[in-house]
Amino acid sequence: MCGIVGYIGENKARPVLISGIKRLEYRGYDSAGIAVIKDNGIICEKSVGQICELEKKINGKFDKSTMGIIHTRWATHGAPTVENAHPHFDCSGKIAIVHNGIIENYNYLKAKLEKEGHNFKSETDSEVIAHLIESHFEETLEDAVRRALKEVEGAYGLAIISLDDPGKLIAARHGSQLIVGIGKKEHFITSDVAAILEYTKNVVYLDDNEIAVLTRDNMKTTDVDNVQISKRIDEIQWNLDKIEKSGYKHFMLKEIHEQPQALRDSMLGRYEKDNNLVHLGGLKDKENVLRNIRRIIIVACGTSWHAGLIGEYMIEEHLGIPVEVEYASEFRYRNPVIEEDTMVVAISQSGETADTLAAIREASKKGAIILSICNVVGSSIAREADCGIFLHAGPEIGVASTKAFTSQIAVIFLLTLFLARIRGNREVLSNDMASKLKEIPKQVQKILDREDQIIKIAQLYKDNGNFLYLGRGYNYPVALEGALKLKEISYIHAEGYPAAEMKHGPIALIDKNMPVVFIATTDKVYSKILSNIEEVRTRGGKVIAIASESNNEISKLVDHVFYIPETIDALTPILSVIPLQLLAYQMAVMRRCDVDKPRNLAKSVTVE
Ligand code: M6R
Repeated sequence: MCGIVGYIGENKARPVLISGIKRLEYRGYDSAGIAVIKDNGIICEKSVGQICELEKKINGKFDKSTMGIIHTRWATHGAPTVENAHPHFDCSGKIAIVHNGIIENYNYLKAKLEKEGHNFKSETDSEVIAHLIESHFEETLEDAVRRALKEVEGAYGLAIISLDDPGKLIAARHGSQLIVGIGKKEHFITSDVAAILEYTKNVVYLDDNEIAVLTRDNMKTTDVDNVQISKRIDEIQWNLDKIEKSGYKHFMLKEIHEQPQALRDSMLGRYEKDNNLVHLGGLKDKENVLRNIRRIIIVACGTSWHAGLIGEYMIEEHLGIPVEVEYASEFRYRNPVIEEDTMVVAISQSGETADTLAAIREASKKGAIILSICNVVGSSIAREADCGIFLHAGPEIGVASTKAFTSQIAVIFLLTLFLARIRGNREVLSNDMASKLKEIPKQVQKILDREDQIIKIAQLYKDNGNFLYLGRGYNYPVALEGALKLKEISYIHAEGYPAAEMKHGPIALIDKNMPVVFIATTDKVYSKILSNIEEVRTRGGKVIAIASESNNEISKLVDHVFYIPETIDALTPILSVIPLQLLAYQMAVMRRCDVDKPRNLAKSVTVE
């Protein structure tokens, strides 16, 4: 998704902007552009494709400037072309803007501005902002920005510079994350802290309707009515090595291998010393409300939605609270029934997914308490929720979510234990569920140590055009996740199903060319899944099974088995998904796919 970096300071802007925007490449984009103020002019370059294309176009002219803005665009309005790439300018070429988000009333604004004589060069919604600022310019850039933004409907994260008021870099936010970085005699703007971590760890998270006016030495924050707002400075808690590949070929592989540590981090400080009672700092103030909730709705998208499905099984099985899991995109546009005791749980790695954010706003309007489960601290969903739990998985750069998924399951498990404690659910507290999670990181490591077995399977099947993934119970969402991982990074068509649904349609596809991955761990529904394996075998389908270590019969029934350690049913998905992540990764690499940046995909989907 689009990325923004802005810089003003005493150092050269170009290296800061380029290195910063490169750190946001993982978010996905199709074109890029840069503008800097130098002497008495603005110089700009844009290109389609990778940032290296832009770098080729930038010459020595950019070197002396100490302020500028840069952007990566992910096309929404208008094709990925040089004209549509940001920065966009007003008619005079003196105002340059970069924009994340969508201007919903841009058709109206564009028609109005055209009538006033403004000439547009692109097909984007974003360009109207530059012209609108021009139309309101009197003395200062910030006043013009404020007046312009009052006319704008939609979402924006903006970085703005102008030749008529040089020496100022302006940031404005409404519905699209924007962060100001504070350095020594320098300020940064970014849509993602990863871009500026090399330079500073001190940041200010802008809230909706806020505008920051940055000079080399100062920062002033106001709302759109020019009322001054004092902001807290936060310190980023992680280091640069977390966003570098550290010797791994891809971020995705690094993140798969980081899972034991990410899982340990998700538990850190959350168990009471010497016992298994769970405390969650982000929920502390809401214990009274959470004690009495009678219904839970989980909203999420993609992989986070799969984690939500596992949460449904877990919470219903262990706490008896009814849970529904909804695609956030569907939830927001229907008329969901929210009762007084309903809690809405939003799961989102990035905390910026537009549909999930809109869903919690809708639920909040209707009176639900909102609990967020996010990875990115300071993200919009985490900030807008009434309470929340962070994953502490560290930054996830690969577009395909891996460590966030397993951490989400661990955190939902901790939430289950937390609710059991505050609601006095003795059954959950008295069995050894809690200690099982503590064993998981080592068990994940044991699986990762046998990656070579997955490589062998991947070599055999890498040229197949289709895959089916089947699982039951807790492993049904794992089947969906395994199929999603494969299709999004290797472009192999893959479907996930609850195994018993196979005979209601997908069985028609089974023949010798259809490999079927069964997640067949020894759980409550194991005997049922054996019958489904039989059904595939008798039709000539190839079977790859993920099975429990102690299972010594399954190898006779299937073509390949990958064994995983045993745990309780609720935690099995953390283990059973690891071989599927590795299988997808290895096949994608063998097919020479761009694993970390799959085509058409963005890391965080901040538009509908
Ligand atoms: O940041 P979020 O968890 O809200 O993102 C949700 C989905 O966009 C995300 O999980 C997506 O499906 C990934 N590509 C999955 O690997």
